[in-house]
Amino acid sequence: MSMDNSMPSTKVAFFSSKVYDQKVFNSLVQKHAISFTHIESKLDEKTVPLAKGFDTVCVFVNDQLNTQVVEQLASSGVKHIALRCAGYNNVDIATCHTLGIRVSHVPVYSPHAIAEHALALIMTLNRRTHKAYNRVKEGNFDLQGLLGFTLHNKTVGVIGTGHIGSAFVDIVKGFGCKVLAHDPIPNPKMQSQAEYISLQDLFARSDIISLHCPLTSDNTHMINSNTIKQMKKGVMLINTSRGGLIDTSALIKGLKTQQIGYVGLDVYEMESEIFFRDRSCEVIQDDLFQRLSTFHNVLITGHQGFFTQEALNEIAHTTLNNIVSFANQKHANNFL
Ligand code: NAI
Repeated sequence: MSMDNSMPSTKVAFFSSKVYDQKVFNSLVQKHAISFTHIESKLDEKTVPLAKGFDTVCVFVNDQLNTQVVEQLASSGVKHIALRCAGYNNVDIATCHTLGIRVSHVPVYSPHAIAEHALALIMTLNRRTHKAYNRVKEGNFDLQGLLGFTLHNKTVGVIGTGHIGSAFVDIVKGFGCKVLAHDPIPNPKMQSQAEYISLQDLFARSDIISLHCPLTSDNTHMINSNTIKQMKKGVMLINTSRGGLIDTSALIKGLKTQQIGYVGLDVYEMESEIFFRDRSCEVIQDDLFQRLSTFHNVLITGHQGFFTQEALNEIAHTTLNNIVSFANQKHANNFL
């Protein structure tokens, strides 16, 4: 917590706070008239009373700012929601606008961090380095079960070619892959790198499909039993975007019939109930998640695509600038 004594301090309730957030935000906040109160819990209907008396709430991907929470924030006097992430599918933006709460986000921090994580999922699933690591540790040098495929010349379908999707295209092009893309607004920088086609054609022709589009009400469960049927048998599906893009029950069925050959997930549709905490001594109640975890060809990480030092620094910088801009009534580009 730090502030410039000559200026009134902006009081910020920092929800879903982790030690690594505190470290990076505290190292940068000294120059600003901002005081943070770190709250470990996520912001939701139960914890919203904790926001009373604050000017701003600073939140992350799994804080739940639905209509009721936004209404309560407004009646508690909160004027600004500072998201420290790019996606804002967890905030009822329309109600914020109606009630005069401004919402800022961090549109770009380190797109390469997430794109590189998508590649880590592909490489681990394919070459099974996680299994090889354990085998060699135990003195087991048998290669049975570790057979992979050569990535060179494979066809990769990229859904969403914005900041992250285009960084991902650059990486897979470096591996010698052919790239198919689908995006309602094709990226001019990607026209020479990728062939833009319909979603249906992308599903039919891709060996690997990677999701890099935001979650909206129009594309919820875009990966469902119908679209899974359109994919190549044995396809590898990667999601580092938002869990709600995939219908998990349909995904499990696709894995059981072996229509889907590999799944790499950094996000999960019910992740807000599970992720970002040590639950190793709990009985996890989510049966879909538990079933998914049992497949040998499914690799799940707990929403860590963004988690590089460079990305954390950038997130903290931009979030602080957004809070200062709001306090100075300068609403820059990052306000929704
Ligand atoms: P961006 O806004 O730069 O690009 C998104 C692209 O998706 C745009 O080109 C847009 O036209 C396209 N798009 C929108 N709807 C689409 C649809 N139905 N089908 C195909 N394309 C569609 O966003 P950016 O920075 O590339 O981030 C993408 C997503 O990645 C975010 O919305 C967020 O959900 C996720 N993300 C995940 C992180 C992680 O740690 N795993 C961290 C940061 C973002």
